[in-house]
Amino acid sequence: MSFTIAIDGPAAAGKGTISRAVAAHFGFAHLDTGLLYRAVGARHLAGAEPVAAATQLTAADLEADDLRTPEVAQAASRVAAIGAVRAALVDFQRAFARRAGGAVLDGRDIGTVICPEAEAKLFVTASPEVRAERRYRELREKGIETDFATVLADTRERDARDMGRTDAPLRPADDAVEIDTSHLSIDEAVAAAIAAVDQAMKERTT
Ligand code: C5P
Repeated sequence: MSFTIAIDGPAAAGKGTISRAVAAHFGFAHLDTGLLYRAVGARHLAGAEPVAAATQLTAADLEADDLRTPEVAQAASRVAAIGAVRAALVDFQRAFARRAGGAVLDGRDIGTVICPEAEAKLFVTASPEVRAERRYRELREKGIETDFATVLADTRERDARDMGRTDAPLRPADDAVEIDTSHLSIDEAVAAAIAAVDQAMKERTT
């Protein structure tokens, strides 16, 4: 039986951590869909045409180890605004969502475009300052030299592009449960997400 959990939200709101924990809790498979756009963005930075890169994406592209840099994140957000790039990635994501045994997909448009029929939908958010602070610390821990003002400006720029694009803009689905992690610990945010999914499961069986 399939059961899809859609987790959307802006950069560094805690989606990745929550998605991995929710998938582990329910024994579901997890797909970080941002990685698909990052892989296309990285190939574009290396000279490939974005639509061709999206069409020819391979598993090896997703394993490249430079996908978590700020440059790749910005390139991902730029190629993600191209409709034909998004279209090339739809089938893979939908097939993943419907795999037997359950799936968690995190991204920007999972509950609105990729899986509007998802059994559970969450929208994970936090203030831009809190998200930039978290991303800043992550980058510093990885040894990437940067400063808070740059990370905040990057975060706002990516938010504006992701929310303002015509094709699949970032927004909560009408029936998504919103979790603001600005003042929550990781454990509290994960517990809130699991509770929301439990509730959705209960509603389906009653
Ligand atoms: O989630 P992550 O920060 O890795 O995503 C990188 C970029 O990929 C986002 O800023 C967004 O532009 C794009 N993206 C998207 N739709 C998704 C996932 C990511 O447009 N489902």
